[in-house]
Amino acid sequence: MRFNSVGFALSVGMALIVVLIGFTLLSAAGLAGFAAEDVARANEPEAPKTHQVSATRTSVPSPAASPEEAAAIAAGDALFKGNCAQCHAVNEQVVGPALAGISKRRPLSWLLPWVKNSSKVVASGDDYAVALFNKFNKQQMPSFSLSDKEIAAIVAYIKSEEGRSEPMPPADAIASAQ
Ligand code: HEC
Repeated sequence: MRFNSVGFALSVGMALIVVLIGFTLLSAAGLAGFAAEDVARANEPEAPKTHQVSATRTSVPSPAASPEEAAAIAAGDALFKGNCAQCHAVNEQVVGPALAGISKRRPLSWLLPWVKNSSKVVASGDDYAVALFNKFNKQQMPSFSLSDKEIAAIVAYIKSEEGRSEPMPPADAIASAQ
């Protein structure tokens, strides 16, 4: 039985080798599989980029005065000429200061009480008002019984006139252009 036992040992050895080779092959295949997967993933096309909405972007035109604004400016023009123009111009100093840029110098919350009763604002100790009053030789600006809306309209008119050297077309021309 010596041959048999040798044969048995050989066949066990062979079987081990086969198993080993098989295992090696399998694991190699597995590795290759992983590697192939990685490569495939790496080569995957990137998720399509969301396209810029440039096609749908609308260019916003700089807004021309809306009908409401134009109406306010026209009303402000008339109010300014009737109440303020004897002492004020927009772009030059007359009796009172040039009013160009007033909406940037002072908020409406200051302008409303000022136009309604400037001496009250001066008397309140408001630094800006006191300094201005002194600069203009303590000359009192008259009080006006204008509504907030009317004063805002005057401010809109002043804004529209800022930096303008030529007189504006008459207000009714603007109104009829609507
Ligand atoms: C009789 C002249 C007179 C009239 C009319 C007059 N103002 Fe004045 N205004 C002045 C004087 C003078 C000042 C300078 C401050 C002071 O001395 O009280 C002034 C100052 C101002 C200021 C501040 C200016 C700044 O640069 O900060 C505003 C705003 C203003 N006036 C608006 C008006 C408006 C609006 C009207 C018409 C509704 C008007 N004023 C009518 C004389 C006048």
